[in-house]
Amino acid sequence: MLIGILGTGNVAQTLARSWQAAGHQITFGSRDPASKGTLDAPLTSPADAVAGNDVIVNATPGSASLELAEQIGAAAFAGKILVDVANAVTPSFELVSGNSALLGLML
Ligand SMILES: NC(=O)c1ccc[n+]([C@@H]2O[C@H](COP(=O)([O-])OP(=O)(O)OC[C@H]3O[C@@H](n4cnc5c(N)ncnc54)[C@H](OP(=O)(O)O)[C@@H]3O)[C@@H](O)[C@H]2O)c1
Repeated sequence: MLIGILGTGNVAQTLARSWQAAGHQITFGSRDPASKGTLDAPLTSPADAVAGNDVIVNATPGSASLELAEQIGAAAFAGKILVDVANAVTPSFELVSGNSALLGLML
């Protein structure tokens, strides 16, 4: 499968390694695609990672996920499988969206 992962942090890299080992093709969507040359998969903008892949994984901080998804736009996610692993908390662990999945609020 073609999997686009939003974020390049610990969770994104851990999932990417496992899915690559299983034969899937990973692209990271980063705010700064030019600066992450050590990652073992292509980097694009978040919008291009959504546009170019069938399965999208949100691995960004919960406090930033909604803003990022709004920048990309709900229409870009249409027809795609979305796996949202972000925790809906601020850095001080306050809930940012009640008990709802983050991107489920928008899409
Ligand atoms: N479901 C689970 O079991 C589970 C377990 C652990 C963590 N989580 C959640 O998974 C998410 C990712 O965790 P992590 O440990 O991988 O976090 P992390 O290491 O901080 O990485 C988050 C990545 O998100 C991207 N990002 C986009 N917008 C951002 C912003 N405004 N500020 C900071 N980073 C931003 C960054 O990539 P770029 O700089 O390349 O854009 C960053 O590398 C979090 O929501 C965390 O709570 C879930």
